[in-house]
Amino acid sequence: MEVKIFDDYDALSQRTAEEVIKLVKEKPDAVVCLASGNTPLGTCEWIAKKVKAEKIDISKCNFIGLDEWVGVPKENTGSCSYFFHHNLFEPLNISAEKIFLFDALSNDLNGECKKMDNIIKEKGGIDLIIVGIGMNGHIGFNEPGVDFSLLSHVISLHETTITVGQKYFAGAIKLSKGITLGLGHLMNAQKAILIANGKAKAEVISKTVNEPVNNNFPAGIMQKHPDGFVFVDKDAASIL
Ligand code: F6R
Repeated sequence: MEVKIFDDYDALSQRTAEEVIKLVKEKPDAVVCLASGNTPLGTCEWIAKKVKAEKIDISKCNFIGLDEWVGVPKENTGSCSYFFHHNLFEPLNISAEKIFLFDALSNDLNGECKKMDNIIKEKGGIDLIIVGIGMNGHIGFNEPGVDFSLLSHVISLHETTITVGQKYFAGAIKLSKGITLGLGHLMNAQKAILIANGKAKAEVISKTVNEPVNNNFPAGIMQKHPDGFVFVDKDAASIL
């Protein structure tokens, strides 16, 4: 695992977007998995800017959504689906058959997980996975105590995730479960990048990089990825 420190959030976002652009240029039908949340906002903006400025054909690229809040409709502005459509798929005109997101309203969530695992397998695996980190060290909705070998699964959300997660929604919302790609997918991906910015993330980044790997702090698994990177701004790196 390699840590790269950028001057600010914009530089971090631009560099992360370049990773996607570079991959799509080399492999137009690449499989890219992205987290939603506040951290990847800048990355999405930069991907859209670069694709347009450099006239890159991104139409063959496959996009996998990392996770979703169970029971939250995709039209809800706090859903992960809304994030992807609003910040990436619509600006880039990505066609529906290239978008693979969990249906968190399905009455067969385990079936949704199997479907996602099969899609990833059929597409030849994930080439690049870009994830954020939660205040409890989660990646996607892989909460503390998660089995590192899991593929897609449904999980009960940790208290911290339920509290912090309120920030995405217009009003208070009852959250209890998540559907997520597992850390098995992260480890199987050709390349994994964890991104974080801001002083609030400094402690979890320090734990990710410096503490012995333990499933009570899922992000530590980045240390084990053969092509794993932690991209942070100076604030998130401030206690490394
Ligand atoms: C969201 C996701 C979460 C977030 C994490 C950080 O799809 O998978 O694990 O990446 O909670 O969220 P932000 O970026 O909002 O601080």
